Formats: sequence, C-alpha cells, structure tokens
Amino acid sequence: MTVTYDASRVTLVDHPLVQHKLSILRDKNTGTNQFRQLVRELALFDGYEAMRDLPMEDVEVETPITTATFKQLAGKKLAIVPILRAGLGMVDGILDLVPSARVGHIGMERDEVTHEPHEYYCKMPKDIDQRICLVVDPMLATGGSAEMAISYLRERGVKDIRMLCIVAAPEGLKSLTEKDPDVHIYTCAIDDHLNEAAYIVPGLGDAGDRIYGTL
Ligand code: PRP
Ligand code: URA
Repeated sequence: MTVTYDASRVTLVDHPLVQHKLSILRDKNTGTNQFRQLVRELALFDGYEAMRDLPMEDVEVETPITTATFKQLAGKKLAIVPILRAGLGMVDGILDLVPSARVGHIGMERDEVTHEPHEYYCKMPKDIDQRICLVVDPMLATGGSAEMAISYLRERGVKDIRMLCIVAAPEGLKSLTEKDPDVHIYTCAIDDHLNEAAYIVPGLGDAGDRIYGTL
C-alpha cells in the first residue's frame, strides 16, 4: 500500500555525491571506520541544504582593492540536537559548517518489541527556545523517536525545528508531518517501506550499531 505524506514538508538531498556516498554506506560490507566517516560527510550535505534559508545581513569589507558591501549570516543562533546514539555521528559534519552552534543531546532508545521510543537523557543549552534547532538522526523509521524529541523541544518553546536524517521511510515521513506540520525534514533518501521489525527497507541496517561497531 502506498503511504502518502505532505511532500512540501520534505526536502530530498539527492546531489550525485550524496547518492554515491549513500550507496557505499548501505553496503553491508562497509566497515565501521568508513561508515562513521560517510555519516559525517552526508550530514554536512544535509546540513548545507537545511541552512539554505538562514537570514543574512550586509557587512562592509575592505578587500586589498577597495571597500564594498557583502553578506554575512545575521547571527541567528543555532543548536544541533542529536538523538543518541546514532545522531551523534552527524554532529561533527554539521559543526564543520557552523562551528559556533551549540549542541543539545536527547537520549532515546526504541524498544525492540513495541518499537516505541523511550527517553533516557536530555541536556539542552539554556536559551534553546531562542535558537533554530537542527534535530539530527540518520534513521527516520516509524518516526517515533523524532516525534518525541521534537515535542520535547516544542514544550521548551522552540519555534524553528528542522529534522535532518540520512534515510527516511514513507511511514515516518507521514507520521512526523502529521504530528508536527511545522517541522521541515531534510533527508538523503526516501526508501520503500518498513519491515515487520520496523527496520527501513532497503535501508542500511542499524545505524547506531554500524557507527559504533556494536553489531
Ligand atoms: C534508531 C535510530 C533512530 C530510531 C529510528 O535508534 O537511530 O533514533 O532508531 O526509529 P523510529 O523512527 O522508529 O523511532 P535506536 O533506538 O536503535 O538507538 P541507537 O541510536 O542507540 O542505536
Ligand atoms: N533504526 C535503525 O538504525 N535502522 C532502521 O532501519 C530503523 C531504525
């Protein structure tokens, strides 16, 4: 059965370099070291797209030739919010783009039987409600973990939330866009479906286990 969702809330980051790297990431023979490096690189591409509309302001710059007006980021504060554990693998790629961003952590684990997430850790910057939040997790499967993380941030007054993942299932996109119609999702791939264990098909397996070598 086809799962439909509000496609206007979803950006597919499908640059040829992204598709190439993602094919290597999916390969079951790709080892931990390379997997971790690829997650970091894909997060950078994802983050680049997710920050395309950041506000800008004029700045006067004295070049060796003359003085002219150019653009710089308008100083809107950012927070990267990884969903532990696998989301941690995406943080450094985004910090490469915006080194001054703060990082808030949310620990979330799916129950292997019910597939429901439960929260085990949270630590946010004090002014989180003033920041644009980039929630990062490589896998959006049922959407439960992302939904719980995003509703935690909404309860703390965060207005601008962007969800960055590497592989999403249509089921997760539908669920998340229905639960929070204001969130925008950036993903490097939209896969076919979830299997009976709520794993993404074709997917890449368990992202956390592959990043940390705990298979
Ligand atoms: C994985 C993944 C997401 C979640 C996605 O984490 O990193 O957080 O599952 O599934 P969902 O959309 O159905 O909630 P997992 O619970 O395996 O924990 P881990 O990151 O510690 O491996
Ligand atoms: N979590 C993962 O790591 N992979 C999936 O396919 C689904 C949830």
